[in-house]
Amino acid sequence: MNNQDKIKQLIDLRERARKGGGEERMEIQHSKGKLTARERIQILLDEGSFEEYDMFVTHRSHEFGLEEQQYLGDGVITGHGTIDGRVIYVYAQDFTVFGGSLSETHARKICKIMDQAMKVGAPLVGINDSGGARIQEGVRSLAGYAEIFERNILASGVIPQISAIFGPCAGGAVYSPALTDFIIMSDKTSHMFVTGPRVTKTVTGENISIEALGGAQMHASRSGVAHMVAENENEGLLMIRKLISYMPQNNLEDPPAGECTDPIDRLEDMLNELIPDNPNEPYDVKDVIYAIVDHHEFLEIHRQYAMNIIVGFAKFNGSPVGIVANQPNHMAGVLDIEASRKAARFVRFCDCFNLPIVTLVDVPGFLPGSAQEHGGIILHGAKLMFAYGEATVPKIAITLRKSYGGAHDVMSSKQLRGDINYAWPTAEIAVMGPKGAIEILEGKTLKSIEEREEMVKFLAEKEKEYKEKFSNPYEAARYGYIDDVIEPRNTRFRTVRALQTLATKKEMNPPKKHANIPL
Ligand code: HXC
Repeated sequence: MNNQDKIKQLIDLRERARKGGGEERMEIQHSKGKLTARERIQILLDEGSFEEYDMFVTHRSHEFGLEEQQYLGDGVITGHGTIDGRVIYVYAQDFTVFGGSLSETHARKICKIMDQAMKVGAPLVGINDSGGARIQEGVRSLAGYAEIFERNILASGVIPQISAIFGPCAGGAVYSPALTDFIIMSDKTSHMFVTGPRVTKTVTGENISIEALGGAQMHASRSGVAHMVAENENEGLLMIRKLISYMPQNNLEDPPAGECTDPIDRLEDMLNELIPDNPNEPYDVKDVIYAIVDHHEFLEIHRQYAMNIIVGFAKFNGSPVGIVANQPNHMAGVLDIEASRKAARFVRFCDCFNLPIVTLVDVPGFLPGSAQEHGGIILHGAKLMFAYGEATVPKIAITLRKSYGGAHDVMSSKQLRGDINYAWPTAEIAVMGPKGAIEILEGKTLKSIEEREEMVKFLAEKEKEYKEKFSNPYEAARYGYIDDVIEPRNTRFRTVRALQTLATKKEMNPPKKHANIPL
């Protein structure tokens, strides 16, 4: 073979690798409304930035006639490229080769880029579309999964890890995405479960469709496994690009700050009118978020899950932050098990990756009832308290309206090392709401009143008295628990200034191996 032949051989081999499992299987992939692994990478990364590794890797199995079936790349495409010019490592499973199933060599390819992403300090994106462990390889493929899991665990909190699920993801395979920071599922074409519908039927007798058991809508609204659902893969890949734009490359860097053309002192008069006079009337806290952040842009995470609390990313004066807000529009913004878990996980992500946390408080308390108590609200509520209390990033809280009881302490209070705590004049910060308080404080007197009319009058008077004394921000401000009471329309400016001031904040937790968050 002369040198020209050698070059031609390389070109031919590359061409062969790019064909994956062949055109017929690619057509099947397209007919299911799915893209091929290479098409996905092309959309995800900046044009022409992809550098592929291990294109010539093949499996080393001989069982079940596998030696006859060799595909260059072995069912996964790996490498790195850029998103908005920043380095990202990526792997995309190729369903056209052995159903994207994971072999020993397939796993090694993934581990190689995971190791390099850690050395370089760059985010990792995994695109999953796989029939799981390559059945013909048996235990070697199980070991391959575990190699990936361990790397996911060690990379957690060091580099951002994002998983896209664009096809089947079943059995133990679900645990790699579960160990990463964010999961994005494509609607209708992706499924995640530990055991599929057939095994479920055999073991439990339950008859359930694949969509109801592990579809994107279920995981986004019920299990909380999926952070975002995309209508199609194209949208999902653009979501990942957007998510990455709020994140630093690794835990030692700050999130990417850019120019801001939205005036930082923009007054929003409508905020002065937003809170209804009736404390039981809801409003949409997203109106506050959109009003105060740069260019009214907010990337919501877990939009369909635990809607009584809102979490997501936005920018102030060009710098990314995480936002947590109680949502009075859904279950009055009460904290329950799901809301506590959702917000705790988000707060911890922000703390890992140096994203300041801006908290908007309007919380009537924890949700009462046996379902919550038996479900362990004590432990789940403690997770959120733990997350806020251990976070060392800048923490700004603004109390818009209610802030009652234990929930007041949890939501980024001063005593959980909240750095700057503001309140609107409409804030009500107290141990409990007026009605409940009067029933307890005046219990004996209430029992002694026989006339209904007299009772109503007495209650109204006492409630008024309590409200005047406690349902305001000034009692908390008197003790310095609230740093200032601010005019609602000025919230953007005050938040930007607070963030600017806290940009150089340094705070350390006591040295330890790791904390023991109540799981
Ligand atoms: C080897 C596999 C495979 C697998 C699919 N294929 N899954 N090859 N190992 N796990 C191959 C098929 O033989 C077929 O090859 C091609 O991929 C496409 O598969 P189809 O069945 O034709 O596709 P589709 O109808 O879309 O169904 C997809 C599927 C189904 C739902 C994923 O293939 C399936 O149920 N696969 C098995 C899933 C499974 O039980 N995996 C093991 C789980 S246990 P040809 O040559 O015909 O194109 C596990 C443990 C992990 O993963 C533990 C980690 C700790």
